Amino acid sequence: MNNLSIRPLKKGENLPLALLLSADPSEVAIQLYLPDSTVFVAEINNQVIGEYVLYRINAQEVEIKNIAVDEVYQGKGIGKFLLNDAARQATNQGFSRLTIGTSNASIAQLYLYQKHGFEIYSIKYNFFVDNYAEPIFENGIQCKHMIMLSKTLN
Ligand code: ACO
Repeated sequence: MNNLSIRPLKKGENLPLALLLSADPSEVAIQLYLPDSTVFVAEINNQVIGEYVLYRINAQEVEIKNIAVDEVYQGKGIGKFLLNDAARQATNQGFSRLTIGTSNASIAQLYLYQKHGFEIYSIKYNFFVDNYAEPIFENGIQCKHMIMLSKTLN
């Protein structure tokens, strides 16, 4: 998509809340990681159609806490583009490891992340059961555990 551009969200700009909530249904959880994160928005013709959130874990490692593409634009390669952009940003900022977490039920996300070089390194058992008020289902499967994946950056 040649009219797609990605930029950090400026201070004081509106958050792309609907997109953030499509990746993480807890606004409370989102508000906890946002202060220590940078939000990047993807735009087509000045309209925000995607986002990802980079959260610094330590001097070596950064995590994509949230990534989403507007439903209308899904399945067109933008998710892949955002993942690659996040890796480029993290590399440019001097990080050597990029982490991402998703639920046991998020089959398409697990496919996408592993296809792009992320490998599973740990599981946070019952993360979604313990931290979310309501049960969450995807693909008819309950989201119970957080599968953590990471890739080494060059
Ligand atoms: N089922 C099966 N495969 C899928 C699906 C699906 N629902 N969606 C995408 N794919 C595949 C595509 O076929 C493609 O595979 P290919 O490279 O072999 O052709 C690959 O995944 C990448 O597809 P893209 O078009 O690049 O991905 P898209 O632009 O749709 O973005 C994303 C993927 C971000 C997961 C999007 O579907 C989305 O916003 N989902 C809702 C929010 C969400 O779940 N976010 C992630 C939560 S985890 C976290 O935020 C850390």
